[in-house]
Amino acid sequence: MKAAFYATHGAPEVLQIGELPIPVPGDDQVLVQVAAAGVNPIDRRLRGGELQEYITRTFPVVPGWDLAGRIVATGKNVSDWKIGDDILGLAFSWSVQHGTYAEYAPIDASAIAAKPAKMSFIEAAALPLVSLTAWQALAEYANLQPGQTVLIQAGAGGLGSVAIPMAKRLGAIVYTTARHKSFNYVRSLGADHVIDYSASDYEQELRAQEPDGLDVILESLLGDGSAEAAIRLAKTGGVVVYMNNEPPDLPEIAARNIKTAFLHHRPDGEMLAELVALYARGTFRIPRIRIMDLDAAQEAHRLSESGQTQGKLVLKIRDL
Ligand SMILES: NC(=O)c1ccc[n+]([C@@H]2O[C@H](COP(=O)([O-])OP(=O)(O)OC[C@H]3O[C@@H](n4cnc5c(N)ncnc54)[C@H](OP(=O)(O)O)[C@@H]3O)[C@@H](O)[C@H]2O)c1
Repeated sequence: MKAAFYATHGAPEVLQIGELPIPVPGDDQVLVQVAAAGVNPIDRRLRGGELQEYITRTFPVVPGWDLAGRIVATGKNVSDWKIGDDILGLAFSWSVQHGTYAEYAPIDASAIAAKPAKMSFIEAAALPLVSLTAWQALAEYANLQPGQTVLIQAGAGGLGSVAIPMAKRLGAIVYTTARHKSFNYVRSLGADHVIDYSASDYEQELRAQEPDGLDVILESLLGDGSAEAAIRLAKTGGVVVYMNNEPPDLPEIAARNIKTAFLHHRPDGEMLAELVALYARGTFRIPRIRIMDLDAAQEAHRLSESGQTQGKLVLKIRDL
């Protein structure tokens, strides 16, 4: 099968396009003929060699966890799905090898949901990882309630693009950070207040607008003191959910009773099915998507590394 893969860690140039054997699904998995694969920052971070203490690699590694496609084989324990079903899913693994940037990929049957007929494979591939993460952070962990204030960092990114409509659906007042060029985009997703982090100090701006702090903060930035700023910006008794790191070691967290954790997405086919139904109904808006060919996987990783993409990048593998 055709696949994008890397045989060593390194810059985007280590990604090559070539032929690999079709993977064999495990007993609890299905094999999917992949129509489209979503690109996430974790894909290029793993390629670059990050997080080796948590996630093991078997080279050559095909990157990618998000997919949409058609089932072509089922493992012997799988009874709920059949060959020919069109699905989407999050093929997360603590041990990466057979990812989704390929013509075929295995995925746990418990991690997939049926693709609604009116949703394209491209749209479906954009959704699993960011949608599960945002919902598990906002609805499950933070228990975001109507009328509460929430800060969603990096609103124009893949995660922010789905978190904003979800927070609005939960009835929250949404603050987000974005550069001026993305203001219309994040407002179209439902953001109530947008702060241009490149033109002003977002912490000062938020402090001026919400002197008592915010109820919930979805902190997805890396570095630059943003982890500590999130604690300062949270209301006493508020919630800060970290997307990249464990919470900082600050006495203020206990002193002000702030609930906080590093949240890692959890594959969950049933939850994905519920969320996908809301996208299909138009309750959640599908993020802006830039479609690229599988052959352009290197370029997709370069764009992701720029940190300036709007919405989601999706690799088109084939028409189904
Ligand atoms: N824990 C988990 O399970 C989990 C799941 C998903 C994602 N994540 C993490 O969450 C982060 C975001 O993921 P993503 O998929 O949204 O990434 P992404 O799509 O690559 O994010 C790109 C966006 O980030 C914005 N941005 C860059 N620097 C910013 C800054 N200093 N302040 C505000 N916005 C900034 C850019 O907006 P502008 O163009 O407006 O600058 C751009 O639209 C990543 O670090 C990812 O690893 C974690």
